[in-house]
Amino acid sequence: MSGMRARITRTGRVLEDTFFKQAKAKGYVARSAFKLLEIQQKHKIIPPGGQVLDLGCHPGAWLQVACESLGLAKRGGRVIGVDIQETRKPDKFCDDRVSIFQADARELGPEFWAEHCPGGFDVVLSDMCHFTLGNSVADAYKSLELARTAWTIAAGGELAGEQADPNLPWGGPGRGVLKPGGSLVMKLLQGSGTQEFATELRRDFAKVAWHRPKATRSESKEVFLLGLKRK
Ligand SMILES: C[S@@+](CC[C@H](N)C(=O)[O-])C[C@H]1O[C@@H](n2cnc3c(N)ncnc32)[C@H](O)[C@@H]1O
Repeated sequence: MSGMRARITRTGRVLEDTFFKQAKAKGYVARSAFKLLEIQQKHKIIPPGGQVLDLGCHPGAWLQVACESLGLAKRGGRVIGVDIQETRKPDKFCDDRVSIFQADARELGPEFWAEHCPGGFDVVLSDMCHFTLGNSVADAYKSLELARTAWTIAAGGELAGEQADPNLPWGGPGRGVLKPGGSLVMKLLQGSGTQEFATELRRDFAKVAWHRPKATRSESKEVFLLGLKRK
């Protein structure tokens, strides 16, 4: 842990670690910022001045990294965050290119996308997760459901082709909001069905990759599945 000692409770839970302290020092609202920073460094998914959708954005660390990655305000771009929980826009790194909506991503309908995504997104990020139940099979299944929601929003998922509307710039529910060439990042908890899901994604993306960030706690089953360069 690069010379820094973590605080550990009697049950062994790490309270503060290097990433927690670095996040605090740099002004990120959560240590999860480093997960997206690492993915961005490796895969350059957020283009300068790009359009970003962040599903499950609370408390806002990925909004910070996404806005920072857009570059100077004069380059333009936009970050839309969605979360069930009320989320305050972080003061640091987020400017007026960031908008936040309190909603369940599973319930966002065509009207929302028509209003907020007229031209489509370059990246769809999903760090969405449920409160874990402590049952690894159920937790993995629930994380897969949320990842599938992100896939459906981004690229139509299993609905692909159905209801796709060539007259809508963003394609309608069967086409999704991700532009051709764009990327999708989804959090998953490893378990049954995750490999099969990665195989399904190959239909829509030129490359599918797994990423387990250094900032992910060692005891966690968390892993990120990336769809790169939408076909
Ligand atoms: C790990 S946190 C996200 C952390 C965030 N990426 C950050 O860096 O600050 C997961 C979030 O997913 C949200 N979430 C879970 N299910 C959701 C859903 N169906 N729609 C929208 N948000 C959801 C939770 O409310 C929670 O805030």
